[in-house]
Amino acid sequence: MSDFPGEHEYQNLFSPKAYLDSFFHLGAGSMGDEYLYFVLEQLAAIFNSGKVKGDTLIDIGTGPSIYQLLSACEAFKNIIVSDFTDRNREEFNVWLKNQPGAFDWSSVINHVCQLEGDRISCQEKEERLRKTIKQVLKCDVLKTNPIDPVTIPKVDCLLSCLCLEAACKDFETYDTSLKNISKLLKLGGYLVLTGVLGNNYYLVGEEKFSSLKLNDAFLREAITGAGYSIENFHLYNKTEDSLEDKADFSGYFVIIAQKERDA
Ligand SMILES: C[S@@+](CC[C@H](N)C(=O)[O-])C[C@H]1O[C@@H](n2cnc3c(N)ncnc32)[C@H](O)[C@@H]1O
Repeated sequence: MSDFPGEHEYQNLFSPKAYLDSFFHLGAGSMGDEYLYFVLEQLAAIFNSGKVKGDTLIDIGTGPSIYQLLSACEAFKNIIVSDFTDRNREEFNVWLKNQPGAFDWSSVINHVCQLEGDRISCQEKEERLRKTIKQVLKCDVLKTNPIDPVTIPKVDCLLSCLCLEAACKDFETYDTSLKNISKLLKLGGYLVLTGVLGNNYYLVGEEKFSSLKLNDAFLREAITGAGYSIENFHLYNKTEDSLEDKADFSGYFVIIAQKERDA
């Protein structure tokens, strides 16, 4: 039997609070810092470029996270978020409704505001994002319609961060899942994909989750095979040797690709 996490593991063992506490206090020296500095800068550039914009963006496998949406809300009128696990969607909703106990994203929001030239305050940024989020949906990338039983008009942008390598046990499943989520995107729309390279596992609290070990060549083939032309492929090799042992990734990527055909 595969030890790759499935439905049961994500639904029952993935603690949103432990995940956020482990990786999302920017600047506190966690293993997540380098990924976040790289990805937040790239996303700020992409979503403030004027090129990747439109009515609706869907984020696939949002988890309990908002970092990936902070610049996106400058370029899209509506954002739909989605995740497989009930607890992640609940944690996301606690933040969305500004309820007591919500994770403190201020270190991340502060950084994004700075990257965007301090045009608005952190409080305004957080409120802008809350207003832009229109739906929080259940999603399973392994399904032909990942947001089944819901259907939505095709969107202008498909965003997914650190999700497919967590959800897919092998390259074939990754290919199929990428094609599944791509059905939600209009022709001519953009895919923005971020993740980690060479990663076998990550720890969420005491729980160890397997990850599909991605490489540059596979990603290029998977994305073109799913009907896209790649516009930008930013790779970054990890430079800092963290004292933490919460994951074993060797680098990170941010990819922008335009959908040319249905695959
Ligand atoms: C490492 S977390 C990434 C969360 C968030 N995107 C981020 O960047 O922090 C992986 C996410 O993939 C989700 N996931 C796992 N299997 C999935 C599936 N079959 N379909 C959709 N999401 C899934 C998990 O619930 C979890 O939120």
